[in-house]
Amino acid sequence: MKLSKLVLTGAIGLVSLSLAACGGGSSSGGSSEGGGGGGKTVFKLAFNQTADHPQYKAAVEFGKKLEEATDGRYSVKVYPNEQLGTQSDVVQNLSNGTVEMMYIGGPVMEGFNSDFIVYNLPYMFDGYEAQQAIFDNDELNKDLFISVEGSKNITVLAALYAGVRNVYNSKHPIVTPNDLQGLKIRVQQSDSQVEMIEAMGAIASPMGQGDVYSALQTGVLDGAENNETVYHALKHDEVAKYYSYTKHLMIPDYLLINTQALNKLDDADRATFLGLIPELRDQANTGFLEFAKESKAESEKIGAQFNDDVDIAAFKELVQPMVDNAVTQNEVRKQLYDAVQKANEEHPA
Ligand code: GCU
Repeated sequence: MKLSKLVLTGAIGLVSLSLAACGGGSSSGGSSEGGGGGGKTVFKLAFNQTADHPQYKAAVEFGKKLEEATDGRYSVKVYPNEQLGTQSDVVQNLSNGTVEMMYIGGPVMEGFNSDFIVYNLPYMFDGYEAQQAIFDNDELNKDLFISVEGSKNITVLAALYAGVRNVYNSKHPIVTPNDLQGLKIRVQQSDSQVEMIEAMGAIASPMGQGDVYSALQTGVLDGAENNETVYHALKHDEVAKYYSYTKHLMIPDYLLINTQALNKLDDADRATFLGLIPELRDQANTGFLEFAKESKAESEKIGAQFNDDVDIAAFKELVQPMVDNAVTQNEVRKQLYDAVQKANEEHPA
C-alpha cells in the first residue's frame, strides 16, 4: 500500500495570500512564555480522541520537531479526550483565535463551507488509495481549502485518513436496511450525516463524540457509526457489541490552524512549520491503519461481534439520491466529484 506523498505543498502560497488579505494584523498566536523577543509560543492543539491515537502521537512528535527546529521558539501542546470541547465548539474558538490548532472531522467543516460535503458523502471513495490521490492533489483542493481562510481565519494544513465508518449497535447485527429501521444512531454534528443515516433507515442523533458512551449505556442511543478505533478506545464495544461492516463512509479528518497564528511566524519559521506537516500526516496515516487492526482485535477479545455479511448494495441504493443531489448543486462540487470518480477508476480498491 502506497502512502501518500505529501500534504499541501501549496500551503505557503495560501498563507501569503491570506496575509495580504488580512494586512498581517493578528490578535492570536498561541500562549507566550518569557515575553519579549526571546519568548516561546506554545500552540494549543485540541483533539477529541485518546492519547493512544496515532494522530495524537503524530502531533506530539510534530511539536517536538518544531521546538527543536525553531530553537524553542515554537512548540505544541496537545489536549486529548475532548478536554477543550466538542469539535463544533472548538472550531469556533479556533476561528476566533483562543485555540490555535485542532483535528476536525470533515462533516463539521460543512458549517463553514458546505462544499466540503463532497468528501463526506456515503460511498464516495472506493478505497484508501483513491482518497489519498485526491488529497495529494493540491491544485484540486486549493479553492475549497482557501475559502475558509479569508472568511473564518482557518487554514487547512492537511487532510488525514480517518478510517472506514460502519454502524454498530446494542440490539443485533445489521445485514439489510430493514435491520436499521427504528434504531437511534449517533452521527457527527452535521446535516449531511443526519440525512445520510436517515436515508439508510435509522433515526439520527447528532452529538459530540464524548457523550456517546453514556448515551449508549443508558439506552438513549441504540448505536452509532464509526471506525474500529473509536469503537474500542471510547469503550463503545462494551455497550454496543454488534459492529456491522456497512462501510458507508470514508471521511477525512483535517488538521487546522488559526490563520493569524500561522502568519505570526516569520517566513523561515513558517516554512519550517509547514515543512514538518507531511511527516505528521504520514505518521498519522500509517499509524491509523495499524491502530484500526489492533482496535478490532481488542474489541473481539471482550466479546464484540463483527459482521461482514452486509447488503452494501441496498444501502448504496438508499443514499444515492442524496449523493446525486449534493454533488450537482454547483460547479465546485461537480468538479470535486468528477475528480473522485476518476481517482476511484485509477485506484480500484
Ligand atoms: C472519528 C474522526 C473524528 C470524529 C469522530 C466522531 O474519530 O476521526 O474526527 O470527530 O470520528 O465521530 O465524532
